[in-house]
Amino acid sequence: MRRILIGLLTSVLVTATAAVFGPSAAAVPGQNLLPAPPMGWNSWNKFGCDIDEDLIRETADELVSTGMRDAGYTYLNIDDCWMAPQRDANGNLQPDPQRFPHGIKALADYAHVRGLKLGIYSSAGTATCQGLPASLDHETADARSFASWDVDYLKYDNCNNQGRPAQERYKAMSDALRATGRPIVLSICEWGSNQPWNWAAQYGELWRTTGDINDSWGSVMGILDQQVGLEAHSGPNAWNDPDMLEVGNGHMSDTEYRAHFALWALLNAPLIAGNDLRAMDGATKAILENKDLVAVDKDWGGVQGHKLRDDGDAEVWAKPMSDGSVAVVLLNRGGSGADIAVTAAELGLPTADHYRVRDLWSGAESQSAGTLHGTAASHGAVVYRVWPGGGAQPPLTTLALTTPEVTAVDRPFTVTTTLHDDGSPALTHVQATLTVPAGWTVDGGTTASAPSVEGAWRHDWTVHPSGTGPAELAASVTYKAGGASVTRSATASTVTAQPPAAGESQVSALPFVSSSNGWGPVERDTSNGETAAGDGHPITIAGTVYPTGLGTHAPSSVRVFLGGGCSSFSALVGLDDETGAGSVAFEVWGDGTRLAATGVQHKGVAAVPVDVDVSGVRVLDLRVTDGGDGNTYDHADWAGAAVTC
Ligand code: GLA
Repeated sequence: MRRILIGLLTSVLVTATAAVFGPSAAAVPGQNLLPAPPMGWNSWNKFGCDIDEDLIRETADELVSTGMRDAGYTYLNIDDCWMAPQRDANGNLQPDPQRFPHGIKALADYAHVRGLKLGIYSSAGTATCQGLPASLDHETADARSFASWDVDYLKYDNCNNQGRPAQERYKAMSDALRATGRPIVLSICEWGSNQPWNWAAQYGELWRTTGDINDSWGSVMGILDQQVGLEAHSGPNAWNDPDMLEVGNGHMSDTEYRAHFALWALLNAPLIAGNDLRAMDGATKAILENKDLVAVDKDWGGVQGHKLRDDGDAEVWAKPMSDGSVAVVLLNRGGSGADIAVTAAELGLPTADHYRVRDLWSGAESQSAGTLHGTAASHGAVVYRVWPGGGAQPPLTTLALTTPEVTAVDRPFTVTTTLHDDGSPALTHVQATLTVPAGWTVDGGTTASAPSVEGAWRHDWTVHPSGTGPAELAASVTYKAGGASVTRSATASTVTAQPPAAGESQVSALPFVSSSNGWGPVERDTSNGETAAGDGHPITIAGTVYPTGLGTHAPSSVRVFLGGGCSSFSALVGLDDETGAGSVAFEVWGDGTRLAATGVQHKGVAAVPVDVDVSGVRVLDLRVTDGGDGNTYDHADWAGAAVTC
């Protein structure tokens, strides 16, 4: 409730400012340039230095033709590598003559006639991050160049800064931009190194809070974790910037991109697309142009969302909206689907008989009596906007299907379906169906029913698998509510696997449930190789050669099914002799709990014995981290890794 009041107050202030100063306030450089977080496109994430004026013009055209501009994406931002390797005879920055032969002004004109704005890039250092001329001690001249080219936005980086104080360097460019008389947004890109949230608002409109994003789930989650506690520093004309979007760049699933986008919207992040708009698929376009989520991001109250609850893999993030509603993200960081719930009271909403709930991905509206369940796929996010009141909508219902991630071949296991009814009245004529792979059977048949359901209906199914390997399960539930017949469905996947035989087994001879590796594949009985498994050298630690084991490269994870029937795991671990001076740390996990850790190990040190009790563990996870210094040379060996079952 308190947060909402703050939201309302902020919004009243913003409205009052706009009313008093009117549009002229926007013409004062550095003043009210970004009452809402900026939206646009930037060349870096997809193209790096591979940019030219054709790409920028084509992207301008695409911003218009794809509907992106009309969805709010108006900044067309050129990142590093637009400039020539040398300043001109007068000491001014100049565009690369081959790649930008018509200059930056021509691109600004091209953008402006299309209702777009042009952004450019430099660094508060002697050179950009790619080694091209940058603006330290050239602030006045460079700001004048940008203004004379009709540039609207400067992303100002931090490379090659000569160790000079950040505030001094960013103030110099801020003053120089303001002195030009042209309103130019200053995007401060010092990677959160000097806590810019404490000082940058006086110089620019937004500031990066972290190092660079990349197109991976780990990167998105790592950046997300660094936003906790920063929410109080963000507001109109002063935005925390968790870096540009990777949506549509191809190395994450659409589910992951949806979560990335929803979280960035909840954080009031700048929404700067970083994909190739000339080749944007329908799913990417639907994510980026989602009006409901853009509205969350741009909500004029400008109160950044925050993490409300952390249950391990399940997290609840919420943002009070200026109209008294709350936007909520139910995030699942885990490896299988999750059933996550939050209450209206936790969200700070006032007590009401009903709440109106809008699913911001499907647009479906429903009603809840106070609890909101969501079933989020692995690496997925359910997003609701919730208003007190309502009641005319159908009840909010969700179906969760839960199954063990791995099951033992030829052993029955339990699958659970849970139908949540968060609204009213009760559901009637409730019928559930479970679909299993051919050859599998379900005790008591594949259907179940309940005459009526209020709150939740949980049904356990005993399933008998057949064969080994990955398998898909599906469930659907049909019910009646207020005369309408409704169907909810859910899917889940599992892997049936053979637990190790009784006695001792080499881990290198067991199937992996999954494996990930920092370089090439995980090797069986050889050290880290480059391409196919088996191309590594013999496992060698401090001069001793081991005939069996796993050759990995940090960061790595090798997951093996034990089925609960093993007693111990043992290995001799260390850095392989084959490369330079890396450092890693080994960890043994069982069913999501860390059982043992070696601490940081260095090259040339004798192998360290690891002996772990794994009684009752179903899935063993052998992990290697980079030892805290990046993963260069991190060839990590689990010599003689074996389980006793
Ligand atoms: C830094 C920035 C990135 C990008 C590159 C360009 O790494 O943080 O966003 O601008 O420089 O070289």
